[in-house]
Amino acid sequence: FQPKLLTGVKLLMTAGPTYEAIDAVRGITNRSSGKMGYAIAHAAREMGATVTLVSGPVALAAPTGVERISVNTALEMADAVNRRAAQTDIFIGVAAVADYRPASPNEQKIKKSDAPLTVELVPNPDIIASIASLPNAPFCVGFAAESENLHEYAQAKRRAKRLPLLAANLAQTAIGADDNELILFDDDGAHPLPRTDKLSLARTLLRHVAQLYRKGKPA
Ligand code: C5P
Repeated sequence: FQPKLLTGVKLLMTAGPTYEAIDAVRGITNRSSGKMGYAIAHAAREMGATVTLVSGPVALAAPTGVERISVNTALEMADAVNRRAAQTDIFIGVAAVADYRPASPNEQKIKKSDAPLTVELVPNPDIIASIASLPNAPFCVGFAAESENLHEYAQAKRRAKRLPLLAANLAQTAIGADDNELILFDDDGAHPLPRTDKLSLARTLLRHVAQLYRKGKPA
């Protein structure tokens, strides 16, 4: 029997990729499937949380009992998250947010020609970093997919974004797969979670989150 560790907790999350239009039919996206984020949303609901899932375009059904807000772009995702931040206890950013978007997407389909085509990209806002630096910030959990130097890059990212907890995985093994392995980084150091299916990992991650969250909130 698993006691409900997240009863009464308002949890806001992001998951999936974002899609940044270049023109009417083309865009920039990435290979995030949304599986890890959706597994966390499912597990959080199971553990008693009220879950709002701001999701980029994925081919997954919303977990039962989870409110899903579907968005396409990073700016839409940022807006949906910012609107809800004040009513949130825990924020988990699992989405693979596009780092850049085309500066001025073409409303019509760009016609092909023999000339080279340049698309100017501008940086997107960092959603989790801006939430984590709010005066009354929710407890923020970030993800990092790295292809090398996992420990070093993850620790640097956790500090830069001011996150109490960051879950890191190797991009090569995590993306699109049904199982995964994570290393959790917090003030106490690194906690490896061995390879298993994404739902089991989600449950273990959330137990860790619940523990840190309750510790920071004296009754
Ligand atoms: O910097 P990087 O994209 O690797 O950081 C990953 C973490 O930051 C994830 O938690 C992701 O959801 C979040 N993120 C974000 N907004 C961005 C970029 C990343 O919230 N524009």
